[in-house]
Amino acid sequence: MLVLGIETSCDETAAAIVRDGREIVSSVIASQVETHKRFGGVVPEIASREHLDKIVPIVEEAFTRAGMQTKDIDGIAVTIGPGLVGSLLVGVSYAKAMAFALKKPLVGINHIEGHVYSVAFENPPVEYPALALIVSGGHSNLFFVPEPGKYKVIARTRDDAAGEAFDKVAKMLGLSYPGGPIIERLAREGNSKAVKFSVPRMGDGSDDFSFSGLKTAVTKHVRESGLRPVENGEEPSQAIKDLAASFQSIVVRSLVGTTERVAENYHPRTLIVAGGVACNGALREASRQAAARLGIPIYFHSPHLSTDNAAMIAAAGTVKLQAGERASFDLNADVTLRLQNLENEDEALRRAGVRYKL
Ligand code: KG4
Ligand code: ZN
Repeated sequence: MLVLGIETSCDETAAAIVRDGREIVSSVIASQVETHKRFGGVVPEIASREHLDKIVPIVEEAFTRAGMQTKDIDGIAVTIGPGLVGSLLVGVSYAKAMAFALKKPLVGINHIEGHVYSVAFENPPVEYPALALIVSGGHSNLFFVPEPGKYKVIARTRDDAAGEAFDKVAKMLGLSYPGGPIIERLAREGNSKAVKFSVPRMGDGSDDFSFSGLKTAVTKHVRESGLRPVENGEEPSQAIKDLAASFQSIVVRSLVGTTERVAENYHPRTLIVAGGVACNGALREASRQAAARLGIPIYFHSPHLSTDNAAMIAAAGTVKLQAGERASFDLNADVTLRLQNLENEDEALRRAGVRYKL
């Protein structure tokens, strides 16, 4: 089965053709990171305009690189949420028009489910039940996945996503955007024990993540220690490197500690760690060690799938198309789409007045 994937949920315009959900025939990504860099984050209005400019050439390029024609594909998978509404609508409208014109089946994909499938390439097939830690700039979730397509949220962030915390701390230190890779690089030359932060824990005993307190602790440390943020691209000081290392190690301990604790209760047969933050070497190493202690394999996405891409969307779509799922032409973008279809506890949390993010 050949599936065209289309992804425009945030600031990457991407198209890919995937065979049987496991082999990338072509994958094209146009990143807008340079455009948004000077604003220190993604500007939604600019992002949707760029998607409009790029969607046609990017999809055409995916077919050119695959050496295929549009009639060769068996279906189309498109990200419908969560994400920025203007950005999502570009991909959704384009995919619907294409499915209509070509008379091909269409499925809508949750972007976070796409991240789960980013490990489908260059790894052995996932054995279920699996535990998936999805950490990116927009989301931090730990899912129990008893079988393909079934998700139970075990932990989510109550405030900032892990990647968002990296980006905000980087901004505070005068570093560029996206902050994650820069903090990781500086952390390699820093002492992770130099600044004492504590691993955030929820007062109500849940496994949820919280990173905004840590961000506040970093702000407080910067203020009280008189640390000077980096200016005009100068070489960061040792104090900044130590702070980067200390911050990173707490984020990693929070994510991996929770994953391991949950795994001990749920007995998964595979661990999946994906999303932009899963590029982080310290996170990879710590979760590899946790998987070894648990005696189960751990799968990451390959480096070339480290940013948002459409191959993962096509892989997720393949499973749905093979199961006979079809979207109708009233398919729409859903900015706050959730990925939870088992023992839905969102409603209980909402009733209890708990604030949380995707
Ligand atoms: O998955 P992604 O490309 O986009 C979405 O948010 O969906 O993730 C981007 C996020 C950014 O916040 C970026 O700072 C973070 O992933 N990131 C990292 C690293 N590389 C990217 N965070 C920590 N360490 C990294 N090496
Ligand atoms: Zn993403």
